[in-house]
Amino acid sequence: MIEKVTIKKNHARQVAESLLKGISPERKNLIFFLHQVQNHLGYFPEEVVLLAAQYFSVSPAEIFGILTFYSAFKLNQSCAHHIKVCQGTACHVRGSEAIMKEFSRLLGIEAGDYDRQKSISLETVNCLGCCAIGPVVVVDGQYHARVNLKEIEKIVAGLTAGEKSDETCEI
Ligand code: FES
Repeated sequence: MIEKVTIKKNHARQVAESLLKGISPERKNLIFFLHQVQNHLGYFPEEVVLLAAQYFSVSPAEIFGILTFYSAFKLNQSCAHHIKVCQGTACHVRGSEAIMKEFSRLLGIEAGDYDRQKSISLETVNCLGCCAIGPVVVVDGQYHARVNLKEIEKIVAGLTAGEKSDETCEI
């Protein structure tokens, strides 16, 4: 298992380093590079984020901010479950921040991270285009409308009850 993870990490780093060869280290090229990584790897392992931060002279936090802001980027494509909480203006005024905090509390992770044990990723996304039914949460592609704090516990319980012991996030 350790060998498998190491191989994946080395592969991700090799791909990222290869992509960087064709890109000058200017800040304006960062988004282009991130799209290239998304296209080639399908997600962003931490070491690739750190490599990009060093190469483009930005903080890892800034890169994680970009990755969680744009839904086109996946922090971990291999997680069994993905939770996206809309933080657009309409959802925000209807309490999406408290909803995100409750997900964080129940899962023990912050937005942009994933629970390796339960194989669940938690992300914030911008307006999903359905503001009238906000606050909106998307779980594994399924939209949940007008979500309240009580429902979050049910959502998390449903995901963890359905998990299989051999489903883990790949890093
Ligand atoms: S702000 Fe959440 S769907 Fe538009």
